Amino acid sequence: MIPIARPIISEEEKQAVLAVLESGQLAQGEKVAEFEREFAAFCGARYAVATSSGTTALHTALLAHGIGPGDEVITTPFTFIASANAILFTGARPVFVDIEPETFNIDPNRVEEAVRERKKKGARLRAILPVHLFGHPCDIEAIMEIARRYDLLVIEDACQAHGASVNGKKVGTFATGCFSFYPTKNITTGEGGIILTDDEKVAEKARMIRDHGMRKRYYHEILGFNFRMTDIQAAIGLAQLKKLPQWNERRIRNAAYLTERLRHLPFVVPPVVKKGCVHVFHQYTIRIKGDRDKAAEWLRARGIGVSIYYPLPVHQQPVYRDLGYKDVLPEAERASREVLSLPVHPALSPEDLEAIVEAVASLGEEIGCSGSR
Ligand SMILES: Cc1ncc(COP(=O)(O)O)c(C=O)c1O
Repeated sequence: MIPIARPIISEEEKQAVLAVLESGQLAQGEKVAEFEREFAAFCGARYAVATSSGTTALHTALLAHGIGPGDEVITTPFTFIASANAILFTGARPVFVDIEPETFNIDPNRVEEAVRERKKKGARLRAILPVHLFGHPCDIEAIMEIARRYDLLVIEDACQAHGASVNGKKVGTFATGCFSFYPTKNITTGEGGIILTDDEKVAEKARMIRDHGMRKRYYHEILGFNFRMTDIQAAIGLAQLKKLPQWNERRIRNAAYLTERLRHLPFVVPPVVKKGCVHVFHQYTIRIKGDRDKAAEWLRARGIGVSIYYPLPVHQQPVYRDLGYKDVLPEAERASREVLSLPVHPALSPEDLEAIVEAVASLGEEIGCSGSR
């Protein structure tokens, strides 16, 4: 089976972990501080605050901006559930806004409509939390402009978009940005996350929230958590970060090859890259015009480890239905029926790529994949 993702762990990561283990300093220490400096420098942000996961990065970032009960935060329904759950954890309410069909990212025109509608109703709308899904930047410039006009905060979920950029500026640096280092991501620390910000006060508050509200040891000024990253994770992250540019290049090359070979198939809609954007292809996600679930089954039977991100949008998840969400968001719902992600990671060989192309091209009439777009 050609897996949908595979972390690349070399001798460098192993030696780095051994050195930390032998140092006796395992929890958050100098390696975490070094990783924060390096990641901030790579992205072009002033401050970085490492956390235990992407989920805790989002949760901490929202809290650090003072989001809480009674507040509303606009986000996308087509994402990993953590984007919206982080809003719920603070006591605030996610407001879902439908996506653009081409990039699967939140639609800024619809964001503006929702902002107007919520404000007219007197809601305490505080922030927008867009996601740079699959490694393609959302229209962050338009979203920043809306936020400026309506005095809203922005928290970027860049958990899938390490190194992606818009007009030369890296995502996660337009506002407060959050990243994940889960093993399927473009770089990993096993589990881990990080917050980027240019605001010293936000960075300081985030540091306190991740460490039981402490600035000075055992003096707890605010309610906090244990959301710390360990030096073991940071050592892996430092080794991985050096290789991120070359790995992203390989993802981009693999994606270009797949698109070149698949774009003629009438039942495949390949991913787009919008002007000015660097798409880092965390996922290579196509739409299947036909029976998507049968197509996935067919490809898996031929050794292609395809995946469906995501089969059910967040607003339709049972946990959100139970909270009373009844939204109808047609583009997100259609995407969840049509998307299929193919392996694109940097560990793929030319033979793997060829096998993926051949298997997709063999999807035929018997599984409802012969129609036109
Ligand atoms: C878009 C998005 N947001 C948030 C997260 C949460 O990150 P983590 O799994 O590190 O908690 C992930 C990754 O899993 C993600 O893909």
